[in-house]
Amino acid sequence: METLRWQNDQLILLDQTKLPSREVYICCTRWQDVCRAISILSVRGAPAIGVAAAYGVVLAAQNIAARQKDLTVAKLWEQLIPICNALDASRPTAVNLHWALDRMLKKGRSLEKAAIPDVISALKALAVQIHTEDIEVNTAMAECGAAALAKKGTPLTILTHCNAGALATAGIGTALGVIRALHKHHLIRMVYADETRPLLQGARLTVTELMDDHIPVTLISDNMAAWVMKTKKVDAVLVGADRITHNGDTANKIGTYGVSILAKEHGIPFYVVAPVSTFDISLATGDQIPIEERNHDEVRFLQGVPTALSDAPVFNPAFDVTPHENIQAIITEKGLIMHPDDTHIDLFFHQFI
Ligand code: MRU
Repeated sequence: METLRWQNDQLILLDQTKLPSREVYICCTRWQDVCRAISILSVRGAPAIGVAAAYGVVLAAQNIAARQKDLTVAKLWEQLIPICNALDASRPTAVNLHWALDRMLKKGRSLEKAAIPDVISALKALAVQIHTEDIEVNTAMAECGAAALAKKGTPLTILTHCNAGALATAGIGTALGVIRALHKHHLIRMVYADETRPLLQGARLTVTELMDDHIPVTLISDNMAAWVMKTKKVDAVLVGADRITHNGDTANKIGTYGVSILAKEHGIPFYVVAPVSTFDISLATGDQIPIEERNHDEVRFLQGVPTALSDAPVFNPAFDVTPHENIQAIITEKGLIMHPDDTHIDLFFHQFI
């Protein structure tokens, strides 16, 4: 399975809504195809949607240039800015989307005097760079996280929530990247994967990825996490992130906050694995993170089967925020931030960025 691929000037996306029963690929030739794929979660996971959006800008630029023969760079940007805004709004919580689009816009602005074909080549090169960098940072995070967690030298039992794997990134994943690296050293006893209602990213995606790689995994429903922590000697919780604020508060898939409270209660260290592009240090705390609310039918139905009255009132936030006090460390490609808070995050950014 390949999450996304740039091929013949088109973006090929694995349609994750069909997994695990069918492996279907979508061919995006217009930015609108990418925008829709992000909104309906055909492509999902913070880093993967950032990469997809960067290619969306390339598709838009290619198509505008093909249609308008007397195009100037100024006219191209006039049209690309609202397209970037639309892509940015397709999923409001994951900051990687905004980060990737911002890089594309800055590149465009720096090319004011270039010829249109050169602008398009430069945008394409940057999208490919964003894609390649994601593969590299995944590997770096995996090594950093595995080194930190392997200290005891005995196989570990890990609990994870949602899917922070290869399907959520362009590489081997964030939380699942660390798990893959530990597995290579025979240091995984068992991974408990929360099914992750309402859209079952844990059951459909995480379990599939780990089974494909022959990594021991056990699927549990979300309400089993406390009991698993109490009875199965869980050594650590590993999750991904969609946005991390200046004080270390972390938005991730709905349910992550609850898992962090359970981990605290059971004295289990809770780790967030995320690249530097997931930090939004312009926000002071998690209270400022916009939380996406999705269609109510995602809760009323399970895989198309009704589980409630069709007009049952619903609340469907796609993410929640884990307070930094519940996080033992954030594992990044540039090292660990232990006990994340304003001071430790400032120190980290001064040291490495
Ligand atoms: O709604 P989704 O499936 O895009 O949510 C994904 C998550 O919450 C992931 O844990 C997060 O994006 C990190 S992925 C490396």
